[in-house]
Amino acid sequence: MAISKLLILVALACVGADDIVCDVDAKYRTIDGSCNNLKNGKGASNTFFKRLPDENENNVIDYADGIGLPRAAKNGDELPNARLVSQAIMDEKLGPLIQRDRTRSAQKHVPSTYVAKRSKKTIITKVKRLESEQGEVTTTDKLLAEDAQNRDFCFPLEISKNDTDLPPGCINFVRATGKLDEEGVRQQTNLATAFVDASVVYGSTPELTKILRVSDSYLLKTEDNLLPTPAGVNSCFDPVIPTRCPVAGESRVAEVSMLSVQHLAWHREHNRIASELRTLNPHWKDETVFQEARKIVIAIFQHITFNDFLPLVLGQAAMKRFKLFSRDVNEGVFSDPYDVDMNPQVLGSVNVAAHRFGHSQVTNEQNFVDEDCNTVTVNKLEDVFDSPRLIQQNCGVNIPFIGRNLGCTASNRIDNFFVDAMRNRLYHKPESPPGSDIVARNIQRGRDFGVAGYNRWRELCLLEPMKSFDSFEKFGKALKELYNDIDDIDLIVGGLLEKEMGFNVGPTFQCLLGFQYERMKQGDRFWYERPN
Ligand code: HEM
Repeated sequence: MAISKLLILVALACVGADDIVCDVDAKYRTIDGSCNNLKNGKGASNTFFKRLPDENENNVIDYADGIGLPRAAKNGDELPNARLVSQAIMDEKLGPLIQRDRTRSAQKHVPSTYVAKRSKKTIITKVKRLESEQGEVTTTDKLLAEDAQNRDFCFPLEISKNDTDLPPGCINFVRATGKLDEEGVRQQTNLATAFVDASVVYGSTPELTKILRVSDSYLLKTEDNLLPTPAGVNSCFDPVIPTRCPVAGESRVAEVSMLSVQHLAWHREHNRIASELRTLNPHWKDETVFQEARKIVIAIFQHITFNDFLPLVLGQAAMKRFKLFSRDVNEGVFSDPYDVDMNPQVLGSVNVAAHRFGHSQVTNEQNFVDEDCNTVTVNKLEDVFDSPRLIQQNCGVNIPFIGRNLGCTASNRIDNFFVDAMRNRLYHKPESPPGSDIVARNIQRGRDFGVAGYNRWRELCLLEPMKSFDSFEKFGKALKELYNDIDDIDLIVGGLLEKEMGFNVGPTFQCLLGFQYERMKQGDRFWYERPN
Protein backbone atom coordinates (compact mmCIF):
# COMPACT_ATOMS: atom_id res chain seq x y z
CA MET A 1 0.00 0.00 0.00
CA ALA A 2 1.33 3.46 -0.89
CA ILE A 3 2.18 5.73 2.00
CA SER A 4 0.37 9.01 1.53
CA LYS A 5 1.21 12.28 3.25
CA LEU A 6 -1.37 11.56 5.89
CA LEU A 7 -1.33 7.85 6.35
CA ILE A 8 1.41 5.56 7.51
CA LEU A 9 1.61 1.80 7.95
CA VAL A 10 2.54 0.62 11.41
CA ALA A 11 3.18 -3.01 12.34
CA LEU A 12 1.56 -3.96 15.64
CA ALA A 13 3.96 -5.54 18.09
CA CYS A 14 1.99 -8.75 18.36
CA VAL A 15 2.36 -12.13 16.72
CA GLY A 16 -0.15 -12.51 13.95
CA ALA A 17 -1.42 -8.93 14.07
CA ASP A 18 -1.95 -7.17 10.77
CA ASP A 19 -0.27 -3.92 9.84
CA ILE A 20 -2.54 -0.97 10.45
CA VAL A 21 -2.90 2.36 8.72
CA CYS A 22 -2.37 5.41 10.91
CA ASP A 23 -3.34 9.03 10.42
CA VAL A 24 -0.15 10.97 11.10
CA ASP A 25 -2.09 14.17 11.78
CA ALA A 26 -4.70 12.61 14.08
CA LYS A 27 -5.71 15.08 16.81
CA TYR A 28 -6.75 12.43 19.29
CA ARG A 29 -5.15 9.22 20.52
CA THR A 30 -6.80 5.96 19.48
CA ILE A 31 -8.68 3.97 22.11
CA ASP A 32 -6.39 0.94 21.86
CA GLY A 33 -3.12 2.91 21.83
CA SER A 34 -2.27 1.89 18.26
CA CYS A 35 -0.80 4.63 16.05
CA ASN A 36 0.58 6.50 19.05
CA ASN A 37 4.09 5.57 18.01
CA LEU A 38 4.44 5.95 14.25
CA LYS A 39 7.91 4.43 14.05
CA ASN A 40 7.74 1.19 16.05
CA GLY A 41 3.99 0.87 16.75
CA LYS A 42 4.58 -0.14 20.38
CA GLY A 43 2.15 0.37 23.24
CA ALA A 44 -1.18 -0.87 21.82
CA SER A 45 -3.50 -3.04 23.91
CA ASN A 46 -3.50 -6.80 23.32
CA THR A 47 0.21 -6.92 22.55
CA PHE A 48 2.96 -8.64 24.49
CA PHE A 49 4.44 -7.42 27.73
CA LYS A 50 8.04 -6.33 27.24
CA ARG A 51 11.10 -8.34 28.21
CA LEU A 52 14.12 -6.26 29.12
CA PRO A 53 17.21 -6.93 27.01
CA ASP A 54 20.34 -7.68 29.05
CA GLU A 55 23.89 -6.40 28.55
CA ASN A 56 24.18 -8.66 25.45
CA GLU A 57 20.80 -7.68 24.01
CA ASN A 58 19.26 -11.03 24.98
CA ASN A 59 15.84 -10.86 26.61
CA VAL A 60 15.97 -11.38 30.36
CA ILE A 61 13.78 -14.41 30.76
CA ASP A 62 13.90 -17.32 33.16
CA TYR A 63 11.73 -20.30 32.27
CA ALA A 64 12.69 -23.73 33.64
CA ASP A 65 13.05 -25.08 30.10
CA GLY A 66 14.10 -21.78 28.53
CA ILE A 67 10.87 -21.43 26.55
CA GLY A 68 7.79 -21.63 28.73
CA LEU A 69 7.74 -23.73 31.88
CA PRO A 70 7.53 -21.71 35.13
CA ARG A 71 10.87 -20.62 36.58
CA ALA A 72 12.77 -23.23 38.60
CA ALA A 73 15.61 -23.00 41.13
CA LYS A 74 19.17 -22.58 39.84
CA ASN A 75 19.90 -26.24 40.61
CA GLY A 76 16.84 -27.34 38.62
CA ASP A 77 14.66 -28.17 41.63
CA GLU A 78 11.26 -26.62 42.16
CA LEU A 79 11.24 -23.22 43.82
CA PRO A 80 9.84 -23.11 47.35
CA ASN A 81 6.09 -23.37 47.81
CA ALA A 82 4.74 -19.83 47.28
CA ARG A 83 2.29 -20.11 50.17
CA LEU A 84 5.07 -21.13 52.56
CA VAL A 85 7.04 -18.04 51.51
CA SER A 86 3.95 -15.94 52.08
CA GLN A 87 3.43 -17.43 55.56
CA ALA A 88 7.06 -17.07 56.63
CA ILE A 89 7.74 -13.56 55.31
CA MET A 90 4.55 -11.64 54.54
CA ASP A 91 2.14 -12.34 57.42
CA GLU A 92 0.94 -9.07 59.00
CA LYS A 93 1.35 -10.67 62.42
CA LEU A 94 5.14 -10.67 61.83
CA GLY A 95 5.18 -6.90 61.33
CA PRO A 96 4.82 -3.87 63.57
CA LEU A 97 1.51 -3.42 65.40
CA ILE A 98 0.95 -0.08 63.71
CA GLN A 99 0.99 -0.60 59.97
CA ARG A 100 -0.64 2.66 58.93
CA ASP A 101 1.40 5.07 56.88
CA ARG A 102 0.79 8.59 58.12
CA THR A 103 2.01 10.18 54.89
CA ARG A 104 -0.51 8.49 52.61
CA SER A 105 -4.26 8.23 52.67
CA ALA A 106 -6.13 5.33 51.12
CA GLN A 107 -6.70 7.72 48.22
CA LYS A 108 -3.04 7.28 47.35
CA HIS A 109 -3.00 3.53 47.00
CA VAL A 110 -6.21 3.11 45.08
CA PRO A 111 -5.13 5.10 42.00
CA SER A 112 -2.25 2.69 41.61
CA THR A 113 -4.68 -0.07 40.81
CA TYR A 114 -5.82 2.37 38.19
CA VAL A 115 -2.52 2.52 36.34
CA ALA A 116 -1.71 -1.14 36.94
CA LYS A 117 -1.91 -3.05 33.67
CA ARG A 118 -4.02 -6.06 33.03
CA SER A 119 -2.73 -9.44 31.92
CA LYS A 120 -4.74 -12.12 30.27
CA LYS A 121 -5.68 -15.20 32.25
CA THR A 122 -7.23 -18.34 30.91
CA ILE A 123 -8.93 -21.42 32.18
CA ILE A 124 -7.58 -24.44 30.28
CA THR A 125 -6.92 -23.13 26.77
CA LYS A 126 -7.72 -25.37 23.82
CA VAL A 127 -5.44 -25.38 20.80
CA LYS A 128 -8.50 -24.48 18.78
CA ARG A 129 -8.85 -21.25 20.69
CA LEU A 130 -5.22 -20.46 20.21
CA GLU A 131 -5.68 -20.93 16.49
CA SER A 132 -8.71 -18.73 16.30
CA GLU A 133 -6.97 -15.99 18.29
CA GLN A 134 -3.94 -16.06 16.04
CA GLY A 135 -5.73 -16.52 12.75
CA GLU A 136 -4.41 -18.96 10.13
CA VAL A 137 -1.49 -20.99 11.43
CA THR A 138 1.04 -23.04 9.54
CA THR A 139 1.83 -26.66 10.47
CA THR A 140 4.98 -25.65 12.35
CA ASP A 141 3.02 -22.97 14.11
CA LYS A 142 0.43 -25.58 15.00
CA LEU A 143 3.05 -27.76 16.64
CA LEU A 144 4.40 -24.79 18.53
CA ALA A 145 0.86 -23.85 19.48
CA GLU A 146 0.30 -27.35 20.84
CA ASP A 147 3.54 -27.03 22.74
CA ALA A 148 2.38 -23.74 24.20
CA GLN A 149 -0.88 -25.42 25.03
CA ASN A 150 0.96 -28.09 27.00
CA ARG A 151 2.42 -25.36 29.11
CA ASP A 152 -1.00 -23.82 29.79
CA PHE A 153 -1.58 -26.19 32.66
CA CYS A 154 -3.06 -25.29 36.01
CA PHE A 155 -0.38 -24.27 38.41
CA PRO A 156 -2.15 -24.69 41.77
CA LEU A 157 -1.08 -23.08 45.01
CA GLU A 158 -0.28 -25.88 47.40
CA ILE A 159 -1.40 -25.49 51.00
CA SER A 160 0.55 -27.54 53.50
CA LYS A 161 -0.87 -29.61 56.37
CA ASN A 162 0.59 -27.19 58.88
CA ASP A 163 -1.06 -24.10 57.44
CA THR A 164 -2.83 -22.25 60.24
CA ASP A 165 -5.15 -20.21 58.04
CA LEU A 166 -6.01 -22.14 54.88
CA PRO A 167 -7.13 -25.77 54.71
CA PRO A 168 -4.56 -28.25 53.38
CA GLY A 169 -4.80 -29.18 49.72
CA CYS A 170 -4.49 -26.83 46.80
CA ILE A 171 -6.03 -23.63 45.52
CA ASN A 172 -6.85 -22.96 41.92
CA PHE A 173 -4.29 -20.89 40.01
CA VAL A 174 -4.33 -20.68 36.24
CA ARG A 175 -1.35 -19.64 34.15
CA ALA A 176 -1.68 -16.38 32.23
CA THR A 177 -2.45 -17.12 28.58
CA GLY A 178 0.77 -17.60 26.66
CA LYS A 179 1.53 -17.07 23.01
CA LEU A 180 4.78 -17.91 21.33
CA ASP A 181 6.97 -15.16 19.97
CA GLU A 182 9.05 -15.49 16.81
CA GLU A 183 11.67 -17.44 18.74
CA GLY A 184 9.12 -19.90 20.11
CA VAL A 185 9.28 -18.44 23.62
CA ARG A 186 6.11 -18.03 25.66
CA GLN A 187 4.99 -14.42 26.09
CA GLN A 188 2.03 -12.91 27.91
CA THR A 189 -0.41 -10.35 26.59
CA ASN A 190 -1.20 -6.95 28.09
CA LEU A 191 -4.93 -6.32 27.65
CA ALA A 192 -4.54 -2.62 28.40
CA THR A 193 -2.67 0.04 26.46
CA ALA A 194 0.80 0.85 27.75
CA PHE A 195 0.04 4.57 28.09
CA VAL A 196 -1.26 6.54 31.06
CA ASP A 197 -4.29 7.41 28.96
CA ALA A 198 -7.30 6.96 31.26
CA SER A 199 -8.14 3.72 29.49
CA VAL A 200 -9.56 2.68 32.87
CA VAL A 201 -12.26 5.25 32.08
CA TYR A 202 -12.73 4.72 28.34
CA GLY A 203 -11.61 1.11 27.84
CA SER A 204 -8.68 -0.30 25.85
CA THR A 205 -10.73 -1.56 22.91
CA PRO A 206 -13.19 0.28 20.64
CA GLU A 207 -15.75 -2.45 21.45
CA LEU A 208 -15.70 -1.62 25.16
CA THR A 209 -15.77 2.13 24.52
CA LYS A 210 -18.89 1.59 22.43
CA ILE A 211 -20.56 -0.17 25.36
CA LEU A 212 -19.58 2.66 27.71
CA ARG A 213 -20.71 5.54 25.49
CA VAL A 214 -24.23 6.84 24.95
CA SER A 215 -24.70 6.35 21.22
CA ASP A 216 -24.70 9.54 19.11
CA SER A 217 -23.67 11.58 22.12
CA TYR A 218 -20.63 13.06 23.86
CA LEU A 219 -21.57 11.42 27.18
CA LEU A 220 -20.64 8.19 28.93
CA LYS A 221 -23.58 6.03 29.98
CA THR A 222 -24.88 6.24 33.54
CA GLU A 223 -27.72 4.62 35.45
CA ASP A 224 -29.15 6.87 38.17
CA ASN A 225 -25.87 8.79 37.97
CA LEU A 226 -23.97 5.56 38.77
CA LEU A 227 -21.87 3.38 36.48
CA PRO A 228 -23.87 1.50 33.84
CA THR A 229 -24.67 -2.18 34.39
CA PRO A 230 -25.33 -3.71 30.96
CA ALA A 231 -26.27 -7.36 31.27
CA GLY A 232 -23.68 -10.03 30.64
CA VAL A 233 -20.67 -7.75 30.22
CA ASN A 234 -18.82 -8.25 33.48
CA SER A 235 -18.78 -10.63 36.40
CA CYS A 236 -19.06 -9.75 40.03
CA PHE A 237 -20.33 -11.39 43.12
CA ASP A 238 -22.45 -10.37 46.06
CA PRO A 239 -23.41 -12.87 48.73
CA VAL A 240 -26.03 -10.58 50.27
CA ILE A 241 -27.93 -8.78 47.54
CA PRO A 242 -28.09 -9.95 43.93
CA THR A 243 -26.49 -7.11 42.06
CA ARG A 244 -25.82 -6.21 38.49
CA CYS A 245 -22.20 -5.57 37.73
CA PRO A 246 -21.00 -2.08 36.91
CA VAL A 247 -18.89 -1.60 33.82
CA ALA A 248 -16.01 0.83 33.35
CA GLY A 249 -12.88 0.91 31.22
CA GLU A 250 -11.27 -1.86 33.28
CA SER A 251 -12.74 -5.14 34.42
CA ARG A 252 -11.62 -4.82 38.05
CA VAL A 253 -14.12 -1.98 38.62
CA ALA A 254 -16.08 -3.81 41.33
CA GLU A 255 -13.10 -5.47 43.04
CA VAL A 256 -13.43 -3.22 46.09
CA SER A 257 -15.79 -0.32 46.73
CA MET A 258 -13.05 2.32 47.11
CA LEU A 259 -11.87 1.44 43.62
CA SER A 260 -15.43 1.62 42.26
CA VAL A 261 -15.76 5.13 43.71
CA GLN A 262 -12.63 6.20 41.84
CA HIS A 263 -14.04 4.79 38.61
CA LEU A 264 -17.30 6.60 39.19
CA ALA A 265 -15.56 9.91 39.95
CA TRP A 266 -13.65 9.85 36.64
CA HIS A 267 -16.71 8.70 34.73
CA ARG A 268 -18.72 11.62 36.09
CA GLU A 269 -15.80 14.00 35.49
CA HIS A 270 -15.89 13.13 31.79
CA ASN A 271 -19.60 13.90 31.64
CA ARG A 272 -19.17 17.13 33.61
CA ILE A 273 -16.39 18.42 31.34
CA ALA A 274 -18.15 17.26 28.18
CA SER A 275 -21.39 19.03 29.19
CA GLU A 276 -19.50 22.28 29.85
CA LEU A 277 -17.75 22.00 26.48
CA ARG A 278 -21.09 21.44 24.77
CA THR A 279 -22.49 24.62 26.39
CA LEU A 280 -19.44 26.62 25.36
CA ASN A 281 -19.29 25.16 21.85
CA PRO A 282 -22.82 24.44 20.62
CA HIS A 283 -21.52 24.23 17.03
CA TRP A 284 -19.16 21.31 17.74
CA LYS A 285 -20.07 17.80 16.59
CA ASP A 286 -20.80 15.30 19.41
CA GLU A 287 -17.65 13.39 18.52
CA THR A 288 -15.52 16.53 18.90
CA VAL A 289 -17.04 17.25 22.32
CA PHE A 290 -16.39 13.63 23.42
CA GLN A 291 -12.78 13.62 22.23
CA GLU A 292 -11.95 17.07 23.62
CA ALA A 293 -13.42 16.07 27.01
CA ARG A 294 -11.46 12.81 26.87
CA LYS A 295 -8.30 14.75 26.09
CA ILE A 296 -8.81 17.00 29.15
CA VAL A 297 -9.60 14.00 31.40
CA ILE A 298 -6.42 12.26 30.23
CA ALA A 299 -4.38 15.42 30.91
CA ILE A 300 -5.73 15.60 34.48
CA PHE A 301 -5.12 11.88 34.89
CA GLN A 302 -1.52 12.11 33.70
CA HIS A 303 -0.81 15.17 35.84
CA ILE A 304 -2.14 13.55 39.03
CA THR A 305 -0.37 10.25 38.35
CA PHE A 306 3.01 11.82 37.77
CA ASN A 307 2.95 14.73 40.20
CA ASP A 308 0.83 13.57 43.13
CA PHE A 309 0.85 9.78 43.15
CA LEU A 310 4.29 8.72 41.88
CA PRO A 311 6.35 10.95 44.24
CA LEU A 312 4.74 9.09 47.16
CA VAL A 313 5.77 5.75 45.66
CA LEU A 314 9.24 6.53 44.31
CA GLY A 315 10.40 9.47 46.43
CA GLN A 316 11.81 12.79 45.22
CA ALA A 317 15.25 11.55 44.19
CA ALA A 318 13.95 8.82 41.85
CA MET A 319 11.33 11.24 40.46
CA LYS A 320 14.13 13.60 39.47
CA ARG A 321 16.45 10.86 38.23
CA PHE A 322 13.81 9.57 35.79
CA LYS A 323 12.57 13.10 34.91
CA LEU A 324 9.03 12.26 35.94
CA PHE A 325 7.85 15.59 37.36
CA SER A 326 5.96 17.87 35.00
CA ARG A 327 7.46 21.23 34.15
CA ASP A 328 6.41 23.88 36.68
CA VAL A 329 3.60 25.84 35.01
CA ASN A 330 5.00 29.02 36.57
CA GLU A 331 8.01 28.70 34.29
CA GLY A 332 5.65 29.64 31.49
CA VAL A 333 6.95 27.09 28.99
CA PHE A 334 5.63 23.69 28.14
CA SER A 335 7.96 20.75 28.20
CA ASP A 336 8.10 18.34 25.31
CA PRO A 337 9.49 15.08 26.61
CA TYR A 338 8.49 13.01 23.56
CA ASP A 339 11.08 10.68 22.08
CA VAL A 340 9.93 8.55 19.14
CA ASP A 341 12.47 5.84 20.01
CA MET A 342 11.14 5.33 23.54
CA ASN A 343 9.24 2.06 23.85
CA PRO A 344 6.34 2.46 26.32
CA GLN A 345 5.48 -1.27 26.52
CA VAL A 346 4.97 -2.49 30.08
CA LEU A 347 7.67 -4.76 31.45
CA GLY A 348 6.36 -8.14 32.61
CA SER A 349 8.46 -7.73 35.76
CA VAL A 350 6.67 -4.47 36.55
CA ASN A 351 3.30 -6.12 36.05
CA VAL A 352 3.92 -9.20 38.18
CA ALA A 353 6.14 -7.70 40.85
CA ALA A 354 7.14 -4.03 41.09
CA HIS A 355 3.67 -2.55 40.53
CA ARG A 356 2.06 -4.97 42.93
CA PHE A 357 3.70 -3.09 45.84
CA GLY A 358 0.21 -1.61 46.41
CA HIS A 359 -1.15 -4.90 47.70
CA SER A 360 0.80 -4.29 50.91
CA GLN A 361 -0.90 -0.90 51.35
CA VAL A 362 -4.40 -2.36 51.42
CA THR A 363 -6.13 -2.24 54.80
CA ASN A 364 -8.53 -4.79 56.28
CA GLU A 365 -11.56 -2.51 56.06
CA GLN A 366 -13.60 -0.51 53.55
CA ASN A 367 -15.36 1.69 56.09
CA PHE A 368 -17.96 4.40 55.81
CA VAL A 369 -16.63 7.70 57.17
CA ASP A 370 -18.56 10.85 58.09
CA GLU A 371 -17.69 14.50 57.40
CA ASP A 372 -15.50 14.66 60.52
CA CYS A 373 -13.52 11.61 59.36
CA ASN A 374 -15.13 9.37 61.98
CA THR A 375 -15.90 5.78 61.01
CA VAL A 376 -19.67 5.27 61.11
CA THR A 377 -19.83 1.74 59.65
CA VAL A 378 -17.13 -0.91 59.61
CA ASN A 379 -17.09 -3.00 56.39
CA LYS A 380 -14.64 -5.86 56.53
CA LEU A 381 -12.74 -6.16 53.26
CA GLU A 382 -13.11 -9.92 53.22
CA ASP A 383 -16.93 -9.50 53.08
CA VAL A 384 -17.03 -7.04 50.20
CA PHE A 385 -14.66 -8.29 47.48
CA ASP A 386 -16.26 -7.94 44.08
CA SER A 387 -19.58 -6.82 45.51
CA PRO A 388 -20.82 -3.50 44.17
CA ARG A 389 -23.79 -3.38 46.53
CA LEU A 390 -22.08 -0.85 48.85
CA ILE A 391 -22.00 1.57 45.93
CA GLN A 392 -25.37 0.73 44.42
CA GLN A 393 -27.54 0.55 47.56
CA ASN A 394 -30.25 3.22 47.70
CA CYS A 395 -29.11 4.88 44.50
CA GLY A 396 -25.59 5.46 45.74
CA VAL A 397 -26.30 6.90 49.19
CA ASN A 398 -23.05 5.42 50.57
CA ILE A 399 -20.76 6.93 47.96
CA PRO A 400 -19.79 10.07 49.93
CA PHE A 401 -19.05 7.88 52.96
CA ILE A 402 -16.72 5.66 50.93
CA GLY A 403 -15.17 8.65 49.16
CA ARG A 404 -14.37 10.24 52.53
CA ASN A 405 -12.66 7.04 53.62
CA LEU A 406 -10.29 7.48 50.69
CA GLY A 407 -9.29 10.90 51.96
CA CYS A 408 -9.47 10.37 55.73
CA THR A 409 -7.98 6.95 56.37
CA ALA A 410 -4.29 6.19 56.14
CA SER A 411 -3.24 3.34 53.89
CA ASN A 412 -0.81 0.73 55.18
CA ARG A 413 2.91 1.07 54.55
CA ILE A 414 4.63 -0.30 51.50
CA ASP A 415 6.45 -3.27 52.99
CA ASN A 416 6.40 -7.05 53.22
CA PHE A 417 3.35 -7.25 55.51
CA PHE A 418 -0.08 -7.98 54.07
CA VAL A 419 -3.43 -7.87 55.83
CA ASP A 420 -5.29 -11.12 56.45
CA ALA A 421 -8.11 -10.18 54.10
CA MET A 422 -5.63 -10.12 51.21
CA ARG A 423 -3.35 -12.93 52.33
CA ASN A 424 -5.81 -15.45 53.76
CA ARG A 425 -9.25 -14.52 52.52
CA LEU A 426 -8.87 -12.96 49.08
CA TYR A 427 -12.15 -13.46 47.19
CA HIS A 428 -13.39 -15.63 50.04
CA LYS A 429 -17.00 -16.57 49.37
CA PRO A 430 -19.25 -18.23 51.93
CA GLU A 431 -20.38 -20.94 49.52
CA SER A 432 -16.92 -21.65 48.16
CA PRO A 433 -14.35 -21.17 50.89
CA PRO A 434 -11.48 -20.75 51.54
CA GLY A 435 -10.50 -17.91 49.21
CA SER A 436 -6.93 -17.25 48.16
CA ASP A 437 -3.66 -15.55 49.09
CA ILE A 438 -2.58 -12.50 47.07
CA VAL A 439 1.06 -12.88 48.09
CA ALA A 440 1.30 -16.50 47.00
CA ARG A 441 -0.49 -15.56 43.77
CA ASN A 442 1.96 -12.75 43.06
CA ILE A 443 4.94 -15.04 43.66
CA GLN A 444 3.43 -17.76 41.51
CA ARG A 445 2.57 -15.24 38.77
CA GLY A 446 6.18 -14.09 38.59
CA ARG A 447 7.31 -17.67 38.05
CA ASP A 448 4.50 -18.21 35.54
CA PHE A 449 5.76 -15.22 33.49
CA GLY A 450 9.34 -16.53 33.59
CA VAL A 451 10.47 -13.40 35.40
CA ALA A 452 14.06 -13.68 36.61
CA GLY A 453 14.95 -13.77 40.30
CA TYR A 454 15.44 -10.70 42.50
CA ASN A 455 19.25 -10.63 42.37
CA ARG A 456 19.25 -10.59 38.56
CA TRP A 457 17.08 -7.46 38.62
CA ARG A 458 19.41 -5.84 41.13
CA GLU A 459 22.27 -6.44 38.70
CA LEU A 460 20.30 -5.00 35.79
CA CYS A 461 19.50 -1.97 37.94
CA LEU A 462 23.24 -1.56 38.64
CA LEU A 463 22.68 -2.35 42.32
CA GLU A 464 24.97 -4.70 44.23
CA PRO A 465 23.38 -8.19 44.24
CA MET A 466 22.66 -9.57 47.73
CA LYS A 467 25.50 -11.95 48.63
CA SER A 468 24.23 -13.43 51.87
CA PHE A 469 20.84 -14.30 53.31
CA ASP A 470 21.91 -12.29 56.37
CA SER A 471 21.54 -9.12 54.29
CA PHE A 472 17.80 -9.62 54.75
CA GLU A 473 18.32 -9.19 58.50
CA LYS A 474 15.28 -10.45 60.45
CA PHE A 475 14.01 -12.51 57.50
CA GLY A 476 17.36 -13.94 56.42
CA LYS A 477 16.94 -17.14 58.43
CA ALA A 478 13.46 -17.85 57.03
CA LEU A 479 14.64 -17.13 53.47
CA LYS A 480 17.60 -19.46 53.90
CA GLU A 481 15.31 -22.26 55.02
CA LEU A 482 13.03 -21.73 52.02
CA TYR A 483 15.41 -20.99 49.13
CA ASN A 484 18.41 -23.14 48.09
CA ASP A 485 20.29 -20.23 46.62
CA ILE A 486 20.14 -16.50 47.23
CA ASP A 487 19.74 -16.01 43.46
CA ASP A 488 16.49 -18.01 43.59
CA ILE A 489 14.63 -15.42 45.68
CA ASP A 490 11.59 -14.16 43.77
CA LEU A 491 11.62 -10.55 42.58
CA ILE A 492 8.52 -9.55 44.54
CA VAL A 493 9.87 -11.09 47.73
CA GLY A 494 13.29 -9.43 47.62
CA GLY A 495 11.82 -6.17 46.33
CA LEU A 496 9.36 -5.82 49.18
CA LEU A 497 11.99 -6.65 51.79
CA GLU A 498 14.09 -3.65 50.74
CA LYS A 499 13.74 -0.75 53.09
CA GLU A 500 13.70 2.83 51.99
CA MET A 501 13.73 6.03 54.03
CA GLY A 502 10.38 7.79 53.73
CA PHE A 503 8.44 4.56 53.22
CA ASN A 504 8.69 4.53 49.43
CA VAL A 505 9.41 1.38 47.46
CA GLY A 506 13.03 0.18 47.78
CA PRO A 507 15.80 0.78 45.20
CA THR A 508 15.02 -2.18 42.91
CA PHE A 509 11.36 -1.27 42.53
CA GLN A 510 12.31 2.41 42.21
CA CYS A 511 14.52 1.43 39.31
CA LEU A 512 11.90 -0.74 37.61
CA LEU A 513 8.99 1.64 38.14
CA GLY A 514 11.09 4.71 37.28
CA PHE A 515 12.29 3.05 34.09
CA GLN A 516 8.68 2.12 33.22
CA TYR A 517 7.07 5.48 33.90
CA GLU A 518 9.85 7.32 32.12
CA ARG A 519 8.98 5.31 29.02
CA MET A 520 5.25 5.75 29.47
CA LYS A 521 5.83 9.51 29.53
CA GLN A 522 8.55 10.00 26.92
CA GLY A 523 7.06 7.37 24.62
CA ASP A 524 3.64 9.04 24.52
CA ARG A 525 3.13 11.14 21.39
CA PHE A 526 -0.03 12.61 22.96
CA TRP A 527 1.57 13.43 26.34
CA TYR A 528 -0.44 16.31 27.84
CA GLU A 529 2.42 18.80 28.15
CA ARG A 530 3.37 18.62 24.47
CA PRO A 531 2.80 21.75 22.36
CA ASN A 532 -0.41 21.80 20.30
C1 HEM B 1 -8.20 -4.45 47.73
C2 HEM B 1 -7.45 -4.10 46.73
C3 HEM B 1 -6.86 -5.07 45.72
C4 HEM B 1 -7.21 -6.34 45.41
C5 HEM B 1 -8.33 -7.17 46.00
C6 HEM B 1 -6.31 -6.79 44.36
C7 HEM B 1 -6.34 -8.04 43.78
C8 HEM B 1 -5.56 -8.44 42.73
C9 HEM B 1 -5.58 -9.74 42.13
C10 HEM B 1 -6.45 -10.90 42.58
C11 HEM B 1 -4.70 -9.73 41.11
C12 HEM B 1 -4.37 -10.88 40.17
C13 HEM B 1 -3.37 -11.78 40.88
C14 HEM B 1 -2.85 -12.84 39.96
O1 HEM B 1 -1.86 -12.62 39.26
O2 HEM B 1 -3.44 -13.92 39.93
C15 HEM B 1 -4.12 -8.42 41.05
C16 HEM B 1 -3.21 -8.01 40.10
C17 HEM B 1 -2.57 -6.82 40.15
N1 HEM B 1 -2.69 -5.84 41.10
FE1 HEM B 1 -4.02 -5.83 42.61
N2 HEM B 1 -5.45 -5.77 44.05
C18 HEM B 1 -5.74 -4.70 44.86
C19 HEM B 1 -5.07 -3.50 44.91
C20 HEM B 1 -3.98 -3.18 44.14
C21 HEM B 1 -3.20 -1.99 44.26
C22 HEM B 1 -3.45 -0.88 45.29
C23 HEM B 1 -2.24 -2.05 43.30
C24 HEM B 1 -1.18 -1.04 42.95
C25 HEM B 1 -0.20 -0.61 43.33
C26 HEM B 1 -2.41 -3.27 42.58
C27 HEM B 1 -1.63 -3.68 41.52
C28 HEM B 1 -1.83 -4.83 40.80
C29 HEM B 1 -1.12 -5.15 39.58
C30 HEM B 1 -0.06 -4.31 38.88
C31 HEM B 1 -1.60 -6.38 39.17
C32 HEM B 1 -1.22 -7.08 37.88
C33 HEM B 1 -2.21 -6.67 36.82
C34 HEM B 1 -2.83 -7.84 36.16
O3 HEM B 1 -2.15 -8.68 35.62
O4 HEM B 1 -4.05 -7.94 36.17
N3 HEM B 1 -3.47 -3.94 43.12
N4 HEM B 1 -4.63 -7.65 42.06
